Amino acid sequence: MAVDPALNTDMMLRSEDIPWVPQGSANVWFKPLRISLETGSWVNLLKVARGGVVSRHRHLAEVEGWVVQGRWHYLEHDWQAVPGSYVYEPPGDVHTLVSDSTDETEPMLTLFKIHGPIEYMDDNGELAYVETAESKLKRYHQYCEEIGTEPLQLVF
Ligand SMILES: [Fe+2]
Repeated sequence: MAVDPALNTDMMLRSEDIPWVPQGSANVWFKPLRISLETGSWVNLLKVARGGVVSRHRHLAEVEGWVVQGRWHYLEHDWQAVPGSYVYEPPGDVHTLVSDSTDETEPMLTLFKIHGPIEYMDDNGELAYVETAESKLKRYHQYCEEIGTEPLQLVF
């Protein structure tokens, strides 16, 4: 889908019209709601089912989250996020997200605004992969192609 940098309008997206895109590790999916190539930020719903882990990563810009459902924590911090929790992580924060969902039918769901690139690390702490607004958009488009769905205009 063509990206219109001049798009400057109100938007209303129905999240049910956007697929859960596998994020790359088991039991983890994201649903992009907005991807801003202009600012390098994106908004997505994250879904992590029981046993799911988002591997250790560093955020190069701040992150904000609001928990919709389920429970989760970061291995590196001593709190647990529950429905209604608001989470803020400063630029440079390094963490590993673990879902504390105990119910198969109720994965954790959290709305995250990610303000910049994410550096994923391997088991040795070496840089493995950099996630950006561009790579999120690419994953979304690839997945839409895989399942035969026309991607929505999420770039604004
Ligand atoms: Fe994170």
